[in-house]
Amino acid sequence: METIVWKFKNNEEDEVMMDKAGATIRSGGLVAFPTETVYGLGGNALDTNAAKKIYSAKGRPSDNPLIVHIADKKVLYDIVSRVPKNAEKLMEKFWPGPLTLIFKKKDIIPKEVSGGLDTVAVRCPSHPAAIKFIKSAKVPIAAPSANLSGKPSPTCAGHVLEDLSGRIDMIIDAGDVGLGIESTIVDVASDIPTILRPGFVTRSMIENVIGKVSYNVKAKDDESPKAPGMKYRHYAPKGELSLYRGSFDKVSEVITNKANKKNKSGSKVGVLICDEHEDIYKKTLNPDITLISLGSAMEPEKIAGKLFGALRQFDNEKCEYIYGETFTEDGVGEAVMNRLMKAAGYNLTDV
Ligand code: TXA
Ligand code: MG
Repeated sequence: METIVWKFKNNEEDEVMMDKAGATIRSGGLVAFPTETVYGLGGNALDTNAAKKIYSAKGRPSDNPLIVHIADKKVLYDIVSRVPKNAEKLMEKFWPGPLTLIFKKKDIIPKEVSGGLDTVAVRCPSHPAAIKFIKSAKVPIAAPSANLSGKPSPTCAGHVLEDLSGRIDMIIDAGDVGLGIESTIVDVASDIPTILRPGFVTRSMIENVIGKVSYNVKAKDDESPKAPGMKYRHYAPKGELSLYRGSFDKVSEVITNKANKKNKSGSKVGVLICDEHEDIYKKTLNPDITLISLGSAMEPEKIAGKLFGALRQFDNEKCEYIYGETFTEDGVGEAVMNRLMKAAGYNLTDV
């Protein structure tokens, strides 16, 4: 199949494209679309076959459920059986936006979409292209991130094409997304609201609205994780990513030594850092090492925006070994470090 790429202009010219995208969804096809977090791979959330196609296009295990995207809060009541008070408060504050909530589902959501669970994840994105697209489809849209399973989530249409060209009907291209990491997920179906995945809506922002929440993000090896996706390897670059934490002097010494040594022995090497340290690494690293700075250490929001693109760039440059600094875990930093740790397969050394 040839994948059609369509540019989103955010004006009336989009109407033709959106009509086509909506019709594609209603006839069981797949359309990748931008959200404010990452690009999603959309299909009709009420259609079992569309869900199967999504899993197959991504190569995703079928027990890892999809997020259902809606453009109008009213649609929520058609697909979930109970909306707890805490959920109301969170939706009031953060929808539309980068927050996914888990509810008890109604039967209208097929088990293929919910990965066999009796709950469903729902999100109301704020990106204008996402809103127009969902409205045009006239059905809720099931959409995981539009990457091949295991790869970093796509933050531009080019990333989607890299992974899914020829496997899906259409891509709505609105350029780079604004945020760059996936939505925060909060389970509001159980008695104690629980964060299952950190994101731009931070733990303290949530607690300011509904009080103390629990945090169940890293699954232990011997237990079944609450968000099924957490048990799979994620975001991993092809090269071996190792992270180092400690004082800058120590970290830069270790990273520089390891990177230069591997580079000298003929391997392709990458180094991942923040802006403040760029000048120093430029002086100490061998010149043909791929050095990527994600932005200022003081601005985890910016680092979040660049992280997945950087991981893909290391792949494109065929880096076999990647050495990375760690970043603050304050605020959005919690989400950044969650993704980075997963990308590194939890390979972190304190120095
Ligand atoms: O920002 C986002 O959330 C993006 C954009 C496209 O909206 N979507 C996204 O979807 O990141 P995906 O499929 O890559 O991640 C969904 C995560 C998975 O870890 C999955 O296990 C979890 O949500 N999830 C979905 N339904 C769930 C449920 N009923 N209970 C627990 N976890 C669930
Ligand atoms: Mg994903």
